[in-house]
Amino acid sequence: MKGLRVIGWGKALGEKLVTNDDLAKTLDTSDEWITERTGIRQRYIGGSVASLSILASQRALAVAGITGAEIDMVLLATTTSDQIVPSTAVAIQAALGISGGALDINAACSGFAYGMAVANGLLATGLRRILLIGAEQLSTITDFTDRSTAVLFGDGAGAVVLEATDGPGDLLSYVLGSDGDLKHLLYAEHGSYLHMVGKEVFRKAVQVIVDSSNEAMDKAGITVNDLALMVPHQANLRIIQSACQRLGIEESKAMITVDRYGNTSAASIPLALVDAIEEDRLKPGDLVLLTGFGAGMTWASLILRWNP
Ligand code: UT7
Repeated sequence: MKGLRVIGWGKALGEKLVTNDDLAKTLDTSDEWITERTGIRQRYIGGSVASLSILASQRALAVAGITGAEIDMVLLATTTSDQIVPSTAVAIQAALGISGGALDINAACSGFAYGMAVANGLLATGLRRILLIGAEQLSTITDFTDRSTAVLFGDGAGAVVLEATDGPGDLLSYVLGSDGDLKHLLYAEHGSYLHMVGKEVFRKAVQVIVDSSNEAMDKAGITVNDLALMVPHQANLRIIQSACQRLGIEESKAMITVDRYGNTSAASIPLALVDAIEEDRLKPGDLVLLTGFGAGMTWASLILRWNP
């Protein structure tokens, strides 16, 4: 059985930097409230899911030292596909000259982590290389007159190139979960904005991060002491702090990017992973916990050995 290895990574951000003070010009909010309640200081807005994905993917392909022609499949995790039909993955496939399949995955903020598990299965059963992207243009479904959501979200994309390896590979375990009875907590109807019951999402998020992370560590046969880094979904700094406390993970081991990018849903884990790599927070052999949660609700935790 083959496994996966990460061989390339890249990111792209919306073109316009929007600070908390910028939002406070038109909304009844303040930099102080947003920073204290969420940890967010700024976010990037703009671009399309396709354009952000293509840019992030070009960078990931350059790091891997390969061209699109050497990729067998594009998996795009997004909740804000540029169109209803076709998938946005096909725009990326065409732009990058990829010859294989192309598929959008909608598991909300857990989408990238779900995508890693899907890619692992495809690589185990014959594909050689997969381009996996998490990308969002949440600004298209954000009501910028509603202060309870407008301050939270941003646009961006993170991409990785995954290659099949002989042996079990570097994805040591994964745990996927969902509970559709909670779909009313966070949703957007066709043509409408995002609605969220923030406090409930917060409470449930901490619980599913802790439970699924513990399960993923058990499955991999490791403990929190073996982890070099945690790369959580970036929705709220207080959620990450709470989860770290309950898991017994030092906060300094959690990658934090919510301050710079806000909540970018499916893009948040790959953006944080790329920043961790570029900031030299990972060395070969390190064990990383990726953990995501979001609308659905869905959640996903996985243990990755960093071995590029
Ligand atoms: O990625 C998908 C998953 N999403 C999440 O994980 C989000 C989870 N939830 C959260 O992060 C938090 O619940 C929020 C950041 C969304 C809200 O923080 P909170 O501490 O739960 O605040 P709240 O909703 O209970 O609101 C407290 C007060 C309210 O005023 P009153 O009723 O106490 O007078 C709100 O109207 O804060 C008010 N408020 C604001 N004030 C200033 C809400 N939004 C704002 C704002 N600026 N932007």
